Amino acid sequence: MDELTITPKQLKNHTLILDETLPGDKSISHRAYILASLCNNNSLFENMSEATDCKNSRQALKSLGIPIKNIKKKTAIHGQGLKGLKPPPSCINVGNAGTAIRLLTGILAAQPFNSEISGDKSIQQRPMDRIINPLGQMGAIIKGKARNNKRFAPLNIIGQKQLKGILYQLPIASAQVKSALLFAGLYAQEKTVIIEETPSRDHSERLLRYFGADILCKKNHISITNTKPLNNPHPNTALFIPNDPSAAAFFIVLAACHPSCTLILRKVSLNPQRIAFLDILKHMGLNYHIENKIETWEPYGDIIVNSSELKNISIPKEIIPQIIDEIPILAIAGCFARGTFAITDAKELRVKESDRIHNMVCLLSNMGIDVTEKEDGFSFKGPVKITPFHCDSQHDHRIAMSAIIAAQAGQVSATIKDCNCIKTSFPKFFDSLEKILINN
Ligand code: S3P
Repeated sequence: MDELTITPKQLKNHTLILDETLPGDKSISHRAYILASLCNNNSLFENMSEATDCKNSRQALKSLGIPIKNIKKKTAIHGQGLKGLKPPPSCINVGNAGTAIRLLTGILAAQPFNSEISGDKSIQQRPMDRIINPLGQMGAIIKGKARNNKRFAPLNIIGQKQLKGILYQLPIASAQVKSALLFAGLYAQEKTVIIEETPSRDHSERLLRYFGADILCKKNHISITNTKPLNNPHPNTALFIPNDPSAAAFFIVLAACHPSCTLILRKVSLNPQRIAFLDILKHMGLNYHIENKIETWEPYGDIIVNSSELKNISIPKEIIPQIIDEIPILAIAGCFARGTFAITDAKELRVKESDRIHNMVCLLSNMGIDVTEKEDGFSFKGPVKITPFHCDSQHDHRIAMSAIIAAQAGQVSATIKDCNCIKTSFPKFFDSLEKILINN
């Protein structure tokens, strides 16, 4: 396994800018690949994520017969309509991408052919009952690998020509489950209604609406029917995919924790469901503002961050689903803040790409912090003096990036095992670092 040694460097001492080294949003890119494939016409996207996760969605759809190619810097997808997918020649491999396996399963369940879908070791340990059960209520037949009364990938899907609509209250706030059901709802005879108690990211709803689906969002009810085919209203105009706020978060924290820095992050998604971490950081004292906001299918703009004096706050449990991917890097911000940093009600973190509660606790302890692990979170007292440390990322991209930012922000050396996984979500992470650090 590769091991990276970090020698801390100073930030360049002028206004720093990150733009094209930031990745297009990962969640939106998955949905763009999938839903454009189901349109009756063509779509063009600009700034599609080049992360391995999204490349796996692209490859999966190509194996289902969808022509997808790059034209200059744009991605062209030749949609085949809701019924235009072809049987895949072999098991679909999504690699590390939880979003890909869950969203694609919603569609594969309603095809006139059988299929198999799986991924890497991490994917094979992630819970799949959360989609198998409600899709089963819709008439889908999905067999998973049984272990301890739970089902996991590989998933064997016996395609059904049509599904039934259901009324389903999400037992966990999950955009992946919601999206799998909405996509399956495109093939259901009756209306499918999903009730979500706590809002989760709404990229599927936005893109379905853009492509003309019969989708209605009213309070916490989202309903979809199969009455309208999907069509791109502007097939020749490239839809811009904003930069990924979850990737930007690593650099926002680095800039905030530095004693004197101004960092501009261009064209980052400002989807309200995705920037709750900015609100948390604002309450912690983050000095930032937004410029050049564009209100479009997915809003975006520039985030300007200045060095900040941070204090820890109590993080409300209702906000957890909206900051779930940023908790590791928020914890690193917590190391530089006064007061207790505490995460509770975040059990979902245990079933992400790795057990992120345990792995963050290991990382923080290795950094010299007295941290308490609980079933649904962890806590420690800040500010702390970070000592040189070792981190085993456990192949989890967000753990690896959090460790690197911690070493840079704390100005300590570190060794980090397995940084290759960073490509999963942020292929130009090291280019972004290089852009803002003094190279001596
Ligand atoms: C995602 C939803 C979240 C998130 C994941 C991406 C998505 O997962 O953690 O990184 O694109 O829908 P859950 O829906 O399981 O919470």
